[in-house]
Amino acid sequence: MKAKMMKEFTKIFGEGGEVRSYFAPGRVNLIGEHTDYNGGHVFPCALTIGTYALVRKREDNKLRFYSMNFEKLGMVESSLDDLVESKAAGWTNYPKGMIWAFNQKGFPIDKGFDMLLFGNIPNASGLSSSASVETVTGVALKDLYEYEDISMIDIALYGQYSENNFNKVNCGIMDQFSIAMGKKDNAIFLDTATLEYTYAPIKLDGMKIVIACSNKKRGLGDSKYNERRTECETALAELQKVKDISSLGELTEDEFDEIQDAIKDSTRRRRAKHAVYENQRTIHAVSALQHGDIQEFGELMNASHISLRDDYEVTGLELDTLVEAAWNLNGVIGSRMTGAGFGGCTVSIVMDDVVDDFINVVGRNYKKKIGYAADFYVVEIGDGARRI
Ligand code: GLA
Repeated sequence: MKAKMMKEFTKIFGEGGEVRSYFAPGRVNLIGEHTDYNGGHVFPCALTIGTYALVRKREDNKLRFYSMNFEKLGMVESSLDDLVESKAAGWTNYPKGMIWAFNQKGFPIDKGFDMLLFGNIPNASGLSSSASVETVTGVALKDLYEYEDISMIDIALYGQYSENNFNKVNCGIMDQFSIAMGKKDNAIFLDTATLEYTYAPIKLDGMKIVIACSNKKRGLGDSKYNERRTECETALAELQKVKDISSLGELTEDEFDEIQDAIKDSTRRRRAKHAVYENQRTIHAVSALQHGDIQEFGELMNASHISLRDDYEVTGLELDTLVEAAWNLNGVIGSRMTGAGFGGCTVSIVMDDVVDDFINVVGRNYKKKIGYAADFYVVEIGDGARRI
């Protein structure tokens, strides 16, 4: 890949100078959905697919971008004086947002660069292609501008900061954190209230992680993502009138049940219930896994989907169709939507010998009901973002 990209780099941007290469993965969340902006736990892992970037520092303040995934756009030119989000800037809003975030955080980027990208994460799939672009940019900026004091967790935080304030999507920290901090064959059990984390080895003897991509396109900006977040914040404010808490993640199921009437609106009550129950489910799921109880883990994945479907209402016909078809198959340990929802992907744990059946049967059911095909990926857990 690197050699092919290097050739392309020279063709697009010309020869000379030192070109450095970087990689940031995509991520899949195994359980703990819509908990990361509610002070709860998540359990994501980095994938081996992701975004490759070749970057060369410039002596002026020009920014030149080229994506091998959007060749028709050609070279997109901008400059360090133009760090504002715009529709016309398309995908380059993500690297630009990251430069902006570095500047805001006291790490000025005073010279421009040429950047060539290639990504093999399906676009808008819910496997965090945008956080991957942000993070690969962060790693490149830290390296090229020699900001040794910036940690990988800082890069994750700057990525979230730029997504929130530059790209105007109110996301939590899960995506950027798992992409920056990922570890081969491990998932990350992260407490989003404190950023304390542990790695949990994923030993799936005789099983695979299969991702089914619905191919229903969506962007977080135009989804109901920000609306869900506001609903949770309002519910929290109502609960705070009767109990001294700072996030929904602090509550157990029983504690929530006791005070839930303080939330005046029944829809909002269901949203908060999901946040509380999903967080507890995630804690139980990780402990089940640590005890080697993969069946229990799978059942909790299924329960997570039901809660996202009925209480949080972020699944939709496409994701429900994929998950229900998976549930009907023997040899599927667990299956649920993953990521923000409203389209995107499902994640399933599937016994090795039924993976082919899974892809055939779920694929056929999906096409019949939805009218277009889903894509399937048997994925591996890889390391976090780095120079390569
Ligand atoms: C998106 C956001 C994350 C998280 C998930 C839902 O991926 O970027 O911060 O909120 O949705 O769990």
